[in-house]
Amino acid sequence: MTTPRPTAVVVVLFGATGDLARRMVMPALMELRARGLMPPHWRLIGSAADDLDDAGFAVVLRESLGGAGGVPDDFDEIVARTRYVGGLFSAGDPGRLPVALSRARSELHESSGVDPLVVFFLAVPPLAFPTITEGLGAHGLAAGAHVVFEKPYGTSLESFEELDSLVKRTFTESQVFRIDHFLGKEGVQAIYTLRFANKAFGTLWDRHSVAQVQVDVPEDLNVANRIGFYEATGAALDMLVTHLFQVVSQIAMDTPYDLDDPHSVLLERDSVLQRFRPLDPARDVVLGQFTGYRDLPGVAPDSQQDTFVAARLWVDSDRWRGVPFILRTGKMMARKAQRVTLVLRPDDGPLRQVASRPNTIEIDFAGAGEIFLGLTVKAPGPEMRLSWGRAGLDLDDVPGGEPISPYASLIDDVFRGDRSLFTTEAGLRAAFQAFEPLRHGDRPAPLPYEQGGWGPVEANRLTAPYGWILQQEGSVAIPGQPAR
Ligand code: BG6
Repeated sequence: MTTPRPTAVVVVLFGATGDLARRMVMPALMELRARGLMPPHWRLIGSAADDLDDAGFAVVLRESLGGAGGVPDDFDEIVARTRYVGGLFSAGDPGRLPVALSRARSELHESSGVDPLVVFFLAVPPLAFPTITEGLGAHGLAAGAHVVFEKPYGTSLESFEELDSLVKRTFTESQVFRIDHFLGKEGVQAIYTLRFANKAFGTLWDRHSVAQVQVDVPEDLNVANRIGFYEATGAALDMLVTHLFQVVSQIAMDTPYDLDDPHSVLLERDSVLQRFRPLDPARDVVLGQFTGYRDLPGVAPDSQQDTFVAARLWVDSDRWRGVPFILRTGKMMARKAQRVTLVLRPDDGPLRQVASRPNTIEIDFAGAGEIFLGLTVKAPGPEMRLSWGRAGLDLDDVPGGEPISPYASLIDDVFRGDRSLFTTEAGLRAAFQAFEPLRHGDRPAPLPYEQGGWGPVEANRLTAPYGWILQQEGSVAIPGQPAR
């Protein structure tokens, strides 16, 4: 069952001149259009504090599309459907937005014969969520709309609760889409099919076969160009409680009763989030800060902000009890990668003593996604010697593959009202509850690490006895002893 797309849509993009709108949201909307996935009748209304007119916003849009792979030949046609409303929007002062929205709705009604779906996309910092949400309620704009909140939806358990009660007073839950673009990644979605459509994998997706799961997202990015944001958030809040927890929920969820039913998928992901054990900062978390971070303009000379986090998370479900999920991410590291690795338990047959490495199932979720298997094999030759090999499948190469970007995929879901890749307030509350110990009391001090490295060595103990599998990539397998 695929939920149908609406015939007509108005997208109201708050924060339309900001970095996220330019780099992600507007290119994603145009990607949908280019692929024929945009409802045929549409309008885009950009809203931001900047004092621009429609022509000025068209310049912003052109720059955005230019930076993201190309301005379409029929750009004028896009501009003709795009409006801009400058100034603030709040309960006290709606500015020109209600008028612009009502005009767009009647134009679309006239051309399509139906009432358009209205989508409010809040591509703004979390501090601005309450003001806009109150405004939408106060000016009667919320009814029937879909509303998208960027991450982070709250910056602590308390601010999450405050925001959530305001959102609940304004919208019903089925209208709300709390976006986390990692769930829109092709490779993260590939986990479903790997598990549920392949006997070879589904049967070993639990604590009986899996010894450890690693979710490893090192980044070689600097943070110098977004230091204000970074000093206020840090790696753990920016990446761990959000993207990495969501990836864990995707791996750890139980089997939905119907994969085609968005609600059943959402429920399973949400319920596994509620099985996350609160982090134990002293035993299970290592924070880091790259050397030179404190010298960046805008950073306090004694900043204790984390630019790296590694954490061991326990998922107390029947399926995963006792299996550590080891999560790692950081800035200015050796390389950029996005990798899930299931480290399999050794086989208990006659060769169990001699295999040099564990079997692995690896899912690379950057770009179109890639799947690797790490296998013990017989090294060809006269002796019975074991070796180790890695086989890969690039999902970009499979027949019929046409990868879609995470934002385009998720915005398409918003249009169709499909919330399977979004999270309810219960799921996010559980994520914040598991994260909460790290904000209080014994948050460990960040340890220094060299730029271009793999983070503080203290984080290595979390992965014992296997080590970080990503770092072993490319290293030569040591053949085992002759087996006979
Ligand atoms: C963002 C974080 O949400 O995701 C960034 O704020 C991070 O710090 C980025 O670098 C990673 O996303 P991707 O998918 O573009 O690599």
